[in-house]
Amino acid sequence: MWCEFNFVHNTLGELSAKALTPEYLAALVAIEKRSHLTAWSEANFKSSLASHHVVVGLFDSTGTLLAYAVVSLVAGEAELLLFVVDEVLQGKKLGTAFLQEIIRALQHSKKAQAFFLEVRAGNVPAITVYENLGFNQAGERPNYYATPWGREDALVYVLDWSCEFLRAK
Ligand SMILES: CC(C)(COP(=O)(O)OP(=O)(O)OC[C@H]1O[C@@H](n2cnc3c(N)ncnc32)[C@H](O)[C@@H]1OP(=O)(O)O)[C@@H](O)C(=O)NCCC(=O)NCCS
Repeated sequence: MWCEFNFVHNTLGELSAKALTPEYLAALVAIEKRSHLTAWSEANFKSSLASHHVVVGLFDSTGTLLAYAVVSLVAGEAELLLFVVDEVLQGKKLGTAFLQEIIRALQHSKKAQAFFLEVRAGNVPAITVYENLGFNQAGERPNYYATPWGREDALVYVLDWSCEFLRAK
């Protein structure tokens, strides 16, 4: 499976990623509730796990789920549908490292020639991670997200596969 990989994080140590199964539903929903403003419900995760989406979980060496991504892969195009780091670990460069490894794994697998995502326009930490990793804004969907303070635009991003960190590997 393309999403099975390991890497070392500078403070969290050896981390490993794998595709998640329904046994992780409760852990996903618990992290989602405390970590994500526009949180996915249990039904959202169930439908993803039952479809062609891959739910990639990132674990530490004790088997604790730290972060996860939901990726759709169709006809050579990958889309990042969800990307979350557990709230207590946010801001420690874990999201950057995890997404960087997902991009490497996807590129290595040759399963995707393009990688897209949508992000809420006010989600500065997420946008910073995506732009740092070589995603460029390609469009927008006005008033797409409902937030507690009203609607916000979605920004559509696409990865430049030729970006520096991928060439260096
Ligand atoms: C978005 C998310 C996955 C990023 O993961 P993370 O581990 O917290 O991110 P990192 O620590 O790797 O990087 C965060 C970047 O945002 C910057 N940042 C964080 N808060 C910021 C703020 N309020 N203003 C400006 N920049 C900010 C950090 O400085 C860092 O940039 P740098 O590497 O250039 O210094 C994580 O914050 C998260 O799970 N958020 C909730 C769920 C979500 O919104 N997911 C995205 C849409 S599905």
